[in-house]
Amino acid sequence: MTPIRKIAAALIAAVAAAGCASVVAETDYHAVALDLLKHDFHSKGPATVERVTVQDEAQQLCSVYPKQRTDEMNARIEAAQMKTIKYPADGQYLGKWQEGEKVAQNGRGMQSSDAVGAPNGGNCYACHQITKQEISFGNIGPSLYQYGKLRGNSDAILKYTWGKIYNAQAYSACSNMPRFGHNGVLTEAQIKDVMALLMDPASPVNK
Ligand code: HEC
Repeated sequence: MTPIRKIAAALIAAVAAAGCASVVAETDYHAVALDLLKHDFHSKGPATVERVTVQDEAQQLCSVYPKQRTDEMNARIEAAQMKTIKYPADGQYLGKWQEGEKVAQNGRGMQSSDAVGAPNGGNCYACHQITKQEISFGNIGPSLYQYGKLRGNSDAILKYTWGKIYNAQAYSACSNMPRFGHNGVLTEAQIKDVMALLMDPASPVNK
C-alpha cells in the first residue's frame, strides 16, 4: 500500500469506528507521515530527504510536546550537544568582520539547486539585529548590536560565543537557532568571521 493509501485507510477506519478514540490512537501517524515523505520526495544536491526524515537524539527529544519535555530531558540535550563543540584548532577565535558581515547577510545554501559542498550563508539577520546599518532584521533572537562592547572579549566570552554559534543547543535545549558548526552549515573559517563581526572593536557592531 502506498503511504497516502495507508493514511486514507486509517482515516476511513477511524470514521467507521464513529469517533472511537482507541482506533485513532492505534494508528501511528508519525510512521505513516515518514513513509509518505520517503516515498514521495527525492534527494537532489545538498537537499537530501534524510534532512527531514532522520532525527538525531536532540531532535527526537525536541519533538516531544514542550509541556511534556522535562528539565531532565533539557539537561540531557544540553550536555550531549556541549560535547559536540569543536573549538578552533589554532586557538584563534576571530577572523575578518567584513567577511562575517557577508556571511550574516547571506541566507542562501543547502538548496537543491546548490552544488554539494558549496559555501552556505548564516542568515543571522533573519533572527537578529546586528549592525545599525542593516535595518531589515528579524527578532526571534536577541539583538546582537554592541555585543563585544557590552560583553568584552575575555576567554570565557569568546568560548561561549563560539560554542553558541557552533551548537546553540549546548546552551539552550531546543533553541530555534540553527546548529551552524555541528550541522556543517558554516565552516570554521566562516564562524571565525562572524565571531569577528560580533567581537572586533573595529566592527560596526561595536561602534
Ligand atoms: C532561526 C533564528 C536564528 C538564526 C538564523 C540565528 N540565530 Fe542566533 N539566536 C537565536 C535565538 C532564538 C537565540 C536566543 C537563545 C536561544 O534560544 O538559543 C539566539 C542567540 C544567539 C547568541 C547568544 C546571544 C546572547 O545574548 O548570549 C549569539 C551570539 C547568536 N545567537 C549568534 C548568531 C549568529 C552569529 C548567527 C548567524 C551565523 C545566528 N545567531 C543565527 C536565533 C537565531
